[in-house]
Amino acid sequence: MAVLSTDTATQRQLTLRYHELATPDQLSAPERQVWDAARAATAHSYAPYSHFHVGAALLLADGSLVQGTNQENAAYPSGLCAERTALFGLAGSRPSPPPRIVGMSVAGRPAAGDFSPALPCGACRQVMLEYEMRQGQPIWLLLPSLSGTVLRFERLADLLPFHFSPGDLPPRA
Ligand code: THU
Repeated sequence: MAVLSTDTATQRQLTLRYHELATPDQLSAPERQVWDAARAATAHSYAPYSHFHVGAALLLADGSLVQGTNQENAAYPSGLCAERTALFGLAGSRPSPPPRIVGMSVAGRPAAGDFSPALPCGACRQVMLEYEMRQGQPIWLLLPSLSGTVLRFERLADLLPFHFSPGDLPPRA
């Protein structure tokens, strides 16, 4: 009998595809708009506990922008990340289905300091993906990397392989 199941299992690999741009100056005009809007949004963050100000921006198909910021609370888990504030704010305030989202970006910085990498947490990725699946069209995503470059993902699904999806729920009786 095998000691480890990995002795007999087939090893598989996932490839994660994204583009890396040396600087934000290489972004297209609409991409740059979203990038800048996410950074500008950090000014409206409410982060008295972590002192980390996060902004998210969504570009809609009609060309308009929606921003969101992290909103913290003295009862810590009651706060919400910038990405979900933006997405829930949009979806919860428009007729259903909400307008199509074309692209989004996230930015973060300490209260006193320059912008630093701010990658969406797992819960936000799950929520972001649900909106992409719901609209049936990909949403591109721009993220700042550790080294100051821009990471560009073609679709949110690429950020969360093996995600939980509606199909995982049991059929309703
Ligand atoms: N935060 C976000 O807004 N987005 C993320 O994806 C990760 C973390 C916020 C939550 C909290 O207010 C602060 O960053 C520190 O965790």
